[in-house]
Amino acid sequence: STDIHDLAGRPVIIGGGIAGLMTALHLAPEPVLLLSRSPLGAEASSVWAQGGLAAALGGDDDPALHLADTLAAGDGLCDPEAVRRIVHAAPAAIENLARLGVRFDRTPEGALRLGLEAAHSRRRIVHASGDGSGREVMRGLAAAARSTPTITVLEGVEAQRLAVEDGRIVGVQVSSSTGPLLLATGRVILATGGIGGLFQGSTNPLGSFGQGLALAARAGAILADMEFIQFHPTALDGPGRPMSLVSEAVRGEGAIMVDETGRRFLEGIPGAELAPRDIVARAVWNHLADGHRVFLDARQKPGPAFARHFPTIAAACGRAGIDPAVDLVPIRPAQHYHMGGVAVDRSGRTSVPGLWACGEVASTGLHGANRLASNSLTEAIVCARWVAESVAGSCGHPGIRFAATAQPEPDPRAVRPLLSRALGVTRHGEALKEAAGALLSLAQRNGAASDPAVVGLMIAIAALQRQESRGAHFRTDFPGHAAVARRSRMTLDAALVAA
Ligand code: SIN
Repeated sequence: STDIHDLAGRPVIIGGGIAGLMTALHLAPEPVLLLSRSPLGAEASSVWAQGGLAAALGGDDDPALHLADTLAAGDGLCDPEAVRRIVHAAPAAIENLARLGVRFDRTPEGALRLGLEAAHSRRRIVHASGDGSGREVMRGLAAAARSTPTITVLEGVEAQRLAVEDGRIVGVQVSSSTGPLLLATGRVILATGGIGGLFQGSTNPLGSFGQGLALAARAGAILADMEFIQFHPTALDGPGRPMSLVSEAVRGEGAIMVDETGRRFLEGIPGAELAPRDIVARAVWNHLADGHRVFLDARQKPGPAFARHFPTIAAACGRAGIDPAVDLVPIRPAQHYHMGGVAVDRSGRTSVPGLWACGEVASTGLHGANRLASNSLTEAIVCARWVAESVAGSCGHPGIRFAATAQPEPDPRAVRPLLSRALGVTRHGEALKEAAGALLSLAQRNGAASDPAVVGLMIAIAALQRQESRGAHFRTDFPGHAAVARRSRMTLDAALVAA
């Protein structure tokens, strides 16, 4: 039997990272319940973000330049209007974060210190504690949320299903010590982050395996651009899982990439080390596949200043016995970010009434086929305000007939080898078909792998259906660009039919 707890109209936010906390803060003083699987700040991938937040804040910069760089990196698939709105709102959103108590790195004169990352034509990345940006933004937002009496944070609670009746959201089923519990609410915001836990090599926390995508897909929502998965070119190569990121900002400060012969093998590529991320990741992947080893050489630049600029990375390298100021740093690409997600409109509304999405789980159209560095935290803090305004403007106090069913604890381990093999930096139709078949049978078995397999299946089907190469989606059997760029949209029912 299901216990039903009526939230008396309070909205529920699922996810305690930057997107969830920022949405909660913007909703205040409206009471809100925020569910976090783990203690706030313990597992959200936001905490690990090294690169900071991109915004046109410099005297030589302009949102129009940020827009142009984002569109160029997105390889024809961005929604230009979504990009325009977000990059214009970014500077004020960052200033708002500073007002909330986030301590950004500043020059001796007190101005925000602006860093450079790949494919940005200007210095426009705001950092905190050098390479500890996500940690500091999370600290500031968590402190602000905890001191806001209308925000109730429930830690250690996992959302298992969304309750949908007559096509709209009526509640969230969560696990509780006494069995499934249904929180009755007509307004739910997904802020669950990404999918790295579906891969063997990722820079994300292992527990991020697309829970929000599975919840939305099972509720009938449209998901968009699922095939676009970003691989970061420079994860520290070693046995540790998740893999440690070596931020692009290190290349922004002058580090180069070499192979075991000392050759700077990216030299022929326009932009070289600072070319868009998909291009660099593919070049590294192919070089490794040709039997080479790949290293980041930071010995000249940033050289002795490395540990001061990048204390988190220096510590991770140190644990592997590497000093980047004097040693080469072995790297390889690793899954890093999901451009696809739950399709949302300008206000973060999904196709299911009563359901919104914010942050990495959402697909706003900002990132296109390849996200520009440091646009993700910016997107989360900018869009959180619009989501909150939309949620606040819609009331919902549903009647409930939904009966919960006990759900197994999701376990992505069976899915990881399938996605890692077929949905890496390069893809091929035959491998995708094989993965889709295996994912379909896991998805239908209703076991612990079922939710991760639902997400994996939708990614595999979207990748199969996109018979072209664009941005982060590279098909060795379809290496060319299609003449017209089309975003992909899909429901779970459509994916099951296609499989
Ligand atoms: C990085 O620091 O290289 C990552 C930044 C990002 O993912 O945007």
